[in-house]
Amino acid sequence: MSWTPASHQRHHAVHPHIYRLHFALTDFRPARSWNVVELPTEVPSQFEWNGTILSHPGWGVLLELAAPPDGRSAQLSDYHGQLLARPGDQLPAGPASQEIRLRLRRDHKAAYYGLGQRMGPMRRDPGSFCNWTVDPPSSGHHRGTASMYQAHPYLMLHRPGLALGLFLNSSWFSRFDLGLEHEDEIVICTLGGEADFYVLAAATPAELNHQLAELTGFPMQVPLWSLGFHQSRWGYREQSEIAELVSQFRRRQIPLDVVHLDIDYMDDFRSFSFHPERFPDPRALAEEVGAQGVRLVTIIDPGIRFDLHSPYEVARQGSAGGHFLRNRDGSPFSAYCWPDAALFTDYARADARHWWGEQQGFLLDRGIAGVWIDMNEPATFASPFSEGFSSQLPVPLGLPSGSGDDLTVHAEVHNLYGHQMAQATHQGLQRLRPEETPWVLTRSAFVGTQKWAISWMGDNHSWWEHLALTLPQLVSMGLSGSPLVGVDIGGFFGNTHAELFERWMEQAVFYPFMRNHSALGTRAQEPWAFGAEVEERVRGHIQLRYQLLPYLQELARLAHEQGLPILRPLFFEFPADPESALHEDQAMFGDAILIAPITRPGHTHRQIYFPPGSWYDFWSNQVVEGPTFRVWDAPLGKMPTFCRGGRAIPLDAPRLSTQEPISGCIWWIFPEEGKGSARRAGQVLEWQDDQVVLEPPGACEIVIRRKDTRISRDYP
Ligand code: NOJ
Repeated sequence: MSWTPASHQRHHAVHPHIYRLHFALTDFRPARSWNVVELPTEVPSQFEWNGTILSHPGWGVLLELAAPPDGRSAQLSDYHGQLLARPGDQLPAGPASQEIRLRLRRDHKAAYYGLGQRMGPMRRDPGSFCNWTVDPPSSGHHRGTASMYQAHPYLMLHRPGLALGLFLNSSWFSRFDLGLEHEDEIVICTLGGEADFYVLAAATPAELNHQLAELTGFPMQVPLWSLGFHQSRWGYREQSEIAELVSQFRRRQIPLDVVHLDIDYMDDFRSFSFHPERFPDPRALAEEVGAQGVRLVTIIDPGIRFDLHSPYEVARQGSAGGHFLRNRDGSPFSAYCWPDAALFTDYARADARHWWGEQQGFLLDRGIAGVWIDMNEPATFASPFSEGFSSQLPVPLGLPSGSGDDLTVHAEVHNLYGHQMAQATHQGLQRLRPEETPWVLTRSAFVGTQKWAISWMGDNHSWWEHLALTLPQLVSMGLSGSPLVGVDIGGFFGNTHAELFERWMEQAVFYPFMRNHSALGTRAQEPWAFGAEVEERVRGHIQLRYQLLPYLQELARLAHEQGLPILRPLFFEFPADPESALHEDQAMFGDAILIAPITRPGHTHRQIYFPPGSWYDFWSNQVVEGPTFRVWDAPLGKMPTFCRGGRAIPLDAPRLSTQEPISGCIWWIFPEEGKGSARRAGQVLEWQDDQVVLEPPGACEIVIRRKDTRISRDYP
């Protein structure tokens, strides 16, 4: 394929610190309605692009092409052994099968991060990654799993003094090779024939995250209740079981805000239905648990039972309105999912998204507080589910999708299926219930989905390895613009056990989204399932979560308003400290709390790296002056947790639900020389050294945690 650079390159700034470099193999196509970029206008900047090198007076050379962009015809079947398309399926002629390749010089002084949801180290180089949403095999993800549920073609590069983002604005299949194909190069390829890059330059990772949010959308605002504890499992089959579950939580005085209803509640896996015998009165259930401070969230799958002749209106209405995907000959496209043959909404069409949004009324009428959207990669099976589990059979790449000027093939919008389903669901909730903040939880996502939904990391296993991989995975999501994330506590597949469950709960206190969830047929893993001693400590962990809610709420505000991650890698807070880049088994929860979880069986101590500054042991008040390393005791129930000198943490007295009134609040100040300030629900506290200089109005107790005072674990 020939390359004619002058006519097929465009470049301009869209923000003083974001530069767009756009290459096309042939003609540039008009922007799509689903473009996730929110900065369309050209603005003046100090960037300089000479056709090969992008530089900025503040940072010098930011990016350099190692060779002119080139292209080839490509197909899509598997990547590193993972099936991505139906065997034998061909990409249609045209842009779908035109791969454009960019070769960039690798910056050997920098470390590469980002790329969203992966299993494996947070530092990505050297490595090879693709962006294509899939439901990976249930045998268990591992660091070699090429692709997961979400696609984030966004790379971050960091070296002291520079945080650089590279967003490839392409919804087509893309891949990033970081120094494997060529040691000195970063190779980025995408189908679609166009490489539309946004280069973001910032002095710190925090500024970079802010710019990424300006470019692709700020994370959604979340209601307070959603930051509490969520209990779920696939296999709660009866309405009465849910009522009993909530009563158990209350009898045992374990805080709980949300119960999730998995597909068991549906009538033969029909989305937007309740089983008439097993869930006869969902509204009464919502009221009953609501009186105990608990909300219900229901799962919804995109596969609508292909059932046009029963009283099930969703399939008939969607079909009559033309909202489902169709084959090239106009016949309905159907694939297998839980209800066996299913129809799939074409979320690339605005009218179909609107129709889908309206369906949420069914749930709202029954008192449902939020919607959990699943299987939206989309996940489709090779044989009917009623005949047992089978492998995946992906949607054909050439299936028509979208409408009007945006009529395209599935291959272009595959990565956006979950994203646009989240958009449709969120907007529906907003329209139908404008007085409440919509809450949507999604499995599949793309860059930009953070506006519409929070996400969990899919079907992990009850394995120590998966517990250990969670922290790098969640901080990477935050670096990639999606701070509101969590994983299934205890592990989804397989049977968890007391020690693993406890260690998981300890860590999960600090997940932005805290949900216990497990698969059908696995052993019980409610907080009391492992005996009284474990229950006692687990209750303590969940109570700690509730005590920390005002702090977490502030972090959620910063995520929403500034794009800041909630769980942060150490280097995010200490970008000038090279040692901080090396410790992926520790993280910062906001800027004030350092966590160093235990992720191995039998371990009751571990090595901890303390970055520069003073660190107060959360449990004992012992102070460590960083930078230093220490070996720290970590018996069950006392995960190493430290508060940063010069910061303050707002705490509430424990309560059983966020709906209960707050019975006491407190500020803990961890003094260090100099001025400090912290916020809680709009109130500001200020101090100088160890003296409070501005006390917020209200009745909060203020405790200065001086270095020599030892405190007990109990509140306050
Ligand atoms: C797959 C989801 O990842 C999981 O969380 C859920 O329990 C099952 N689908 C059943 O709905």
